Amino acid sequence: MADATRENWGTRLGFILAAVGSAVGLGNIWRFPGVAYENGGGAFLVPYLVALLTAGIPLLIMEFTIGRKYRASAPLAWRKLSKGAEFIGWWQTIIASVIAVYYAAIVAWAAWYTWFSIDQSWGSADETGGFLFDFLGADMATGLFDFSGYSQQVLWGMVAVWLIVGVVIVAGVRKGIERFNKIFMPLLIVMFGVMVVQALTLEGAATGLNAFFTPEWSELSNADVWIAAYGQIFFSLSIGFGIMITYASYLKKKNDITTSALTVGFANSSFELLAGIGVFSVLGFMAVQSGTPVDEQVSSGVGLAFVAFPAIINQLPFAPALFGILFFLSLTFAGLTSLISIVQVPAAAIKDRFGVSQKAAAGVVWAVLAVISVSLFSANNGLFMLDSTDAYINAFGIAGAGFTSILVVFWIVRKWPVIVENANSSSTFQLVKRRKDLWFGALGVVTVLILGVTLYQSVQA
Ligand code: PHE
Repeated sequence: MADATRENWGTRLGFILAAVGSAVGLGNIWRFPGVAYENGGGAFLVPYLVALLTAGIPLLIMEFTIGRKYRASAPLAWRKLSKGAEFIGWWQTIIASVIAVYYAAIVAWAAWYTWFSIDQSWGSADETGGFLFDFLGADMATGLFDFSGYSQQVLWGMVAVWLIVGVVIVAGVRKGIERFNKIFMPLLIVMFGVMVVQALTLEGAATGLNAFFTPEWSELSNADVWIAAYGQIFFSLSIGFGIMITYASYLKKKNDITTSALTVGFANSSFELLAGIGVFSVLGFMAVQSGTPVDEQVSSGVGLAFVAFPAIINQLPFAPALFGILFFLSLTFAGLTSLISIVQVPAAAIKDRFGVSQKAAAGVVWAVLAVISVSLFSANNGLFMLDSTDAYINAFGIAGAGFTSILVVFWIVRKWPVIVENANSSSTFQLVKRRKDLWFGALGVVTVLILGVTLYQSVQA
């Protein structure tokens, strides 16, 4: 069915900024540095680059093509590709919804920590952990979450985050999502760049960078390192979740796909590397200050951003408040632009399924997710839930949905030639069509095998 009411991006730049906005998120800033370090440091860049070239960019091309060709949300686009494949789209929709529910909590914490940065309200270096527990309403003495109280700050922070998301997605693709990304992505890049420069000037920065980039070549023969690289690329590029299908469904037929995919893929990885450089410069500074070697400080996720970083910010020789504000505001903006893309997946799916307007679908989806998210995560069990959902998302989201979608396209319904045909229908850059053998090998053979092994391992565990 033709959908005359379907919106389009205003400009190609708008689409690219929105896609980069989706890709650049918490995964780039706090997940990548730790994952890279634990999996061989400098040597990790080899599997990482292989994963970007064999899975990241090819799959981005596939999702962009499916979205642009069928001009539909994930479930409907998959159904148009093949009747039996609709379930993949719903699977992706459910996973996106689960991610949205917890992602919003972290964005709210980051926003509060921007505020705390002004006077470093988290206290001295050994108080930052306790401060986080108090902030989340958890009982530090027993180390247990007593599930009774709410942290008022987290509650209101989350309400604010969801209000912003609501206003943006109800305003629509062009007036909401595109406009938001056009303002916040350039801001994010400038702020983050300034923060990294400040980090590089710190005494000890070189020590940190040495630790980060010194390659542990023997790690390359370790299968887990390769699996970690593929996992990072999927998470970081927002592929396998229906997000890029949804965003590409607002493209016009004449928009180029290959060039966009290359731009988004390389922009995301550049940002990620920059984050690694920033984080490790700071860890190197800390190593010089405290005598604790860099490798004993490396962590990722909640501990890195909300415990280790505040402790380090306290000791910065100049402008600690500025550094804190730049770091946490970057986390907030990067998170918001990703969260918006994640929420758009169920919003678009409901619009197509029930034939209602974008505003109505976005409003309903938003209200349901916001209520679940705020009630689950402003309670003090949020931290615990966060860890369990994260593991679950990796197993069933990345490995499961990503694996199934490639398997279906390349081996079951064998529609991959349709994708090749449409990937470049209007492009001046005929990369996929000229080298369809490479494209087939990368996704249909290499990536599908690696994801299959990942899936097998996570089912076993
Ligand atoms: N890619 C974004 C990030 O790196 C957002 C995202 C996370 C998208 C998880 C899908 C799944 O944080």
